[in-house]
This record gives sequence, C-alpha cells and structure tokens, in this order.
Amino acid sequence: MKGFKIKALRIKGRPELRSQPAHRPLPLPALLLLAALCPPALSLRHGPSKIAVVGGGIGGSAAAYFLRQKFGRSVQLHVLEKAALGGRLDTLDVEGASYEAGGSVIHPLNLHMKHFVQELGLLANTLQGSPSGVYNGEEFVFEESSWSFINRPKLLWHYGLNPLRMSMWVEDILDKFMRIYRYQMHDYAFSSNERLLHALGGDDFTRLLNQSIEEAMQKAGFSQKFINQVVCPAMRVNYGQGVTIPGFVGAVSLAWLQSGLWSVKGGNKLVCSGLIYSSKAEVIPGTVVSIEPKTRHQRGGDPVKLYEVTYNTSSGLTGDTYDIVVIAAPLGRKMANITFRNFDPPIPEFPNPFQQTVTTLVHGRLNTSFFGYQDPQAFHLGAIFTTDNPKLFINSLTLESPVGDTGTGGELPLPSAVWKVFSNEELSKEQLSLLFSSYDSVKVKPWLAYPQYSAPEKFPPIVLHEQLYYLNGLERAASAMEMSAIAARNAALLAFHRWHGHSASVDQEDLHERLKTEL
Ligand SMILES: Cc1cc2nc3c(=O)[nH]c(=O)nc-3n(C[C@H](O)[C@H](O)[C@H](O)COP(=O)(O)OP(=O)(O)OC[C@H]3O[C@@H](n4cnc5c(N)ncnc54)[C@H](O)[C@@H]3O)c2cc1C
Ligand SMILES: *[C@@H]1O[C@H](CO)[C@@H](O)[C@H](O)[C@H]1NC(C)=O
Ligand SMILES: *[C@@H]1O[C@H](CO)[C@@H](O)[C@H](O)[C@H]1NC(C)=O
Ligand SMILES: *[C@@H]1O[C@H](CO)[C@@H](O)[C@H](O)[C@H]1NC(C)=O
Ligand SMILES: *[C@@H]1O[C@H](CO)[C@@H](O)[C@H](O)[C@H]1NC(C)=O
Repeated sequence: MKGFKIKALRIKGRPELRSQPAHRPLPLPALLLLAALCPPALSLRHGPSKIAVVGGGIGGSAAAYFLRQKFGRSVQLHVLEKAALGGRLDTLDVEGASYEAGGSVIHPLNLHMKHFVQELGLLANTLQGSPSGVYNGEEFVFEESSWSFINRPKLLWHYGLNPLRMSMWVEDILDKFMRIYRYQMHDYAFSSNERLLHALGGDDFTRLLNQSIEEAMQKAGFSQKFINQVVCPAMRVNYGQGVTIPGFVGAVSLAWLQSGLWSVKGGNKLVCSGLIYSSKAEVIPGTVVSIEPKTRHQRGGDPVKLYEVTYNTSSGLTGDTYDIVVIAAPLGRKMANITFRNFDPPIPEFPNPFQQTVTTLVHGRLNTSFFGYQDPQAFHLGAIFTTDNPKLFINSLTLESPVGDTGTGGELPLPSAVWKVFSNEELSKEQLSLLFSSYDSVKVKPWLAYPQYSAPEKFPPIVLHEQLYYLNGLERAASAMEMSAIAARNAALLAFHRWHGHSASVDQEDLHERLKTEL
C-alpha cells in the first residue's frame, strides 16, 4: 500500500506508548503467600510441551515470538510453512535491486512492527513519497504540485474542509484503535474478534464494520466529490476494491494518507525470519493438510488432550502431536485448505473470499501521453491513483525505491525508473505498451491479497476448539501487517490464560476506563 500523502495535513506525532513493560518480579514472601493461597491443581499445571504454528508470515512469526515470551524457554515451538517465510511479505528483483511486491508500507503508529524492528536490530526506511495525482480514465481530477507548500490552498480549493475533517475523523478512529496496545501491555486478551474490536471502539466500531465507507462518510457529512476523488482512490490502491468496503477497513486505508510511513530496510520479510530466529522456533517445511483432536491416556495420570497435525513434506505425509495449535494462515478451501477431522461439534467452513491483486514491477519509461501529457518533460508525478471507472485496467501506478534505499527524496522521477502497477488482472502485452513507451524488464506476482470485503462484516472465531486458535479472522476487519501482529499477541495471551485458567484476563469489559484509573 502506498498512500498518496496529503502533505499539508501532516499530523503531529504523539507520545508513543512503550511497547514492553518491564515486569517487576514479586518479592519472595509474596510468592510464597500466593503459592499457599492457590489451589495446587491450578498453580501446578505444567506448561504445554509442544506448540505448532501453521504459517510463517508476519502473523505466524509474531505468534512464535509472543508464545515464547508467554510460555517460556522449555516449550518446543514448531512453525509449519508450506512455501517461504514471509508469506505475503516478499520482494522481487528488478535490474539487480529488490523491491517490495506484497505488503510494503507501515504506519508510524504500528507499534508492534516498530517494536519488532527495534528488538531485531533492523533499520527503517522513511518513505518520502513523490507528488501524486488522481486519474479518472480521461484526465487528472487532482494533481499534487512538486512544491508541497501550494498543496494546502489547492486542496482547500478543490475539496473545501473535507481533507481537514477527514484527518480528524481518521485520527479519532486511530486513537481508539491504539487502546489495543495498552490492553495487551497489561496482558488482557479477547476470545473473539467482535469482543476485541468492541473493547477498542464500542458501538462506533461495530457501526463502522456494519456499513460501507461511503455510507459512513456520507453520514458524517463528507462530499460525494471528495469520496469519489480522494477516498475511493485510497481504497483502490490499498485493497483493490472501491468505496463499498466497510468503514473500518476504509478508515485504516485512509490512515495510510498520513505522513511518516516507513518500511524495513532490506525488505519487510526480514521481520519474519528475525522473529522466528529470536523465538528459537523450529521451522518445518511442509503443507498442513489436516488437524485432528486426540486423547492420550497415561498410566496413573489424567488423560492428555492433544492435536495431531498432518503435513505433507518433500518426503511425503508425516505428522506430529501438539498441546496447542495456532493457525496463522487464511482458512478456506482455496487458501490454507486444512481439513479438521473428527471434531465434535465439527469446525464449520467459513466463507472467506479473497481479492486478487497483481503486482507488476516495470523498469521503463512511462507513456505520459496515455495520461494526457504529450510532453513527457511536463510530467512530474511519481504516483498515479485512480477513481472507480470500469474502463481503467489499473488500480495504481507508483514509482518505487529499492528496499535497501531511503527513497527518492521527493525528487522528480527519472525518465526510466521502476514503477509498481497494481491491477485486478494480469496486464496484457498491449496494456503494458499503453502504459509504458518502452521497458526492458517486467516482473509479475499475482496475490490472493486480502479479503474481499463487504458490509456488514462477519468474523470467524478465534477459538476453534479448546486449544486451537485462528489468527486471520481479524483480517476481515482490515488486512495489514500490524493487524496480524495484534492478532498474534492476542492469541498468545489467550492461549496462555486459557491454559492456566486465568479467566480474569480474558474478555474484560470497560478496560479503557479501568486502565485509566490504574495508571
Ligand atoms: C499486494 C499487497 C499489498 C499489501 N500492502 C500492505 C501494506 O502496504 N501494508 C500492510 O500493512 N499490509 C499490506 N498488505 C497486507 C499484508 O501483506 C498482510 O495483511 C500480511 O502480510 C498477512 O500476514 P499473515 O502472516 O497473516 O498471512 P500470510 O502472509 O498469508 O502468511 C500465511 C503463511 O501461511 C503459509 N500457509 C498457508 N497455508 C498453509 C498450510 N496449509 N500449511 C503450511 N503453511 C501454510 C503461507 O505459505 C504463508 O507463508 C498487502 C498485501 C498484498 C498482497
Ligand atoms: C450491526 O449489524 C448486525 C447485524 O448485521 C446487528 O445485529 C447489529 O445490531 C448492528 N450493530 C450496529 C451498532 O449497528
Ligand atoms: C503431497 O505432495 C506431493 C508432492 O508435492 C503431492 O503429489 C501429493 O498429492 C501431496 N499429498 C497430499 C495428501 O496432499
Ligand atoms: C484441498 O485438499 C483436499 C484434500 O486434502 C483436496 O482433495 C482438494 O483438492 C484441495 N482443494 C483445493 C482447492 O486445493
Ligand atoms: C501511448 O499512449 C497513447 C495514448 O493512449 C497511445 O496512442 C500510444 O499507442 C501509447 N504507446 C506509445 C508507445 O506511445
């Protein structure tokens, strides 16, 4: 996702929450007292011995990291991955340099991602963004100038107070969303996606999930022209869909218009391999095909409940048993395609349609006359966004910097550079030669990119069975690296509390008010 920045509306950074509190150990007498008070069956429950995480994308690798943090050194962690670590975070090489092909842009207030990068000793590239324009299939309906100081009057002229009101509207949603960090810092978890979202934004968030971004913004008094020319292009570049997507994912998408966006130097997927290394999890290459509950009877002890996970490796079908399983890949026949055997009651199938987005990286010269500029010298845009017009075969076209670089610094695009095209379908040769007057290298990557959104949004459960958890349901609120990280931390906390029977840390109401007075 590459937002076009409305530079004039830069939002001031706010004090950041510290991501990790230092846990102060209890003094010994307090510990002894606690031990004496707790019924032994509760306090002496052993930790799990083996946990499986299905999927090594950002969700799965963050889950491994947080599971290690909660369950300690002795648990054995396996990450089962059918392809490459990183999942939807991946780079493509063009002319000897690497470019993000999947998830690319991180918001400055994505605190888990920020914490990972610091913890792993990685570096961040701040994205500078170049002047952008909105193309409607015939002409540019809005063009940013190369001189950012004239953008404010220009925006005001075009859209009145809509841009300013939008940034306040998004800010308000973001403020509520940020509550998740405080809840998680205090170890609170939620057993459903609905509860998690309700604990952040109450009925306001429920309403945002129930109606389209268009409806939500119309009700909030935004003009139709602004919705068509600014909001819609942002939805198209970020989610390949129009303003029918729900208000919540729509608002997330609009947050990408703010400044301070960044990405990981060397490629975002480095976070995944880094987290897995730091969690000391073992990566097992294989495709999970089925999961089945089992009960093992031990001599003299209570029966132990386990999950048998069967996976297909290069040497055939094999499997292992685990106390806890965390699924960190989108479920569905066309997605992870995992069969849940012999669950009582059975685990239902959740409808989970995904949107295809094709990333095309082109090293070439833009055909500026396609966009109505007969003189290529006059063309100054580094990002082209689009309105909803069925004639258009692209969603966006943006000038890219390699992952090792710190951005173009807002300079004018070079005559020949690397452009990233997002489209719903693969581009034909004819379409490519319309967009580019010449090109010498094309790399294509089709993705099942993010959910196909529609309001009202319904969520699959987080708890599929006693100790079987599912992260990617939260993607139905909004798909983003940070959302997967939040879901991962929630699942690790939830698994821990449920294993040890700590019900007081799960699904608490009014956390926002309670934590206010606690500090
Ligand atoms: C083109 C594009 C642009 C995007 N832009 C942004 C952006 O700018 N910013 C942002 O925050 N987000 C962006 N996103 C979304 C973001 O990339 C995803 O939300 C995020 O990467 C999802 O991570 P995940 O770990 O939950 O899922 P995935 O990355 O899909 O990981 C799931 C993993 O599970 C593996 N797997 C699946 N099934 C099985 C199985 N049966 N057995 C074993 N392994 C299995 C897969 O191989 C995969 O590695 C973008 C996505 C795309 C495609
Ligand atoms: C959202 O829609 C669901 C049904 O689709 C309804 O039960 C719920 O009351 C609605 N919530 C709000 C806040 O509109
Ligand atoms: C396992 O993988 C092999 C080779 O990739 C494939 O031929 C086979 O059908 C797979 N088996 C199952 C049960 O998915
Ligand atoms: C899902 O897996 C089953 C067997 O495990 C297989 O028969 C089926 O073809 C797979 N479906 C898809 C869409 O890959
Ligand atoms: C460039 O765009 C124009 C206008 O759409 C088109 O006629 C022409 O064929 C395109 N290609 C080249 C190489 O100029």
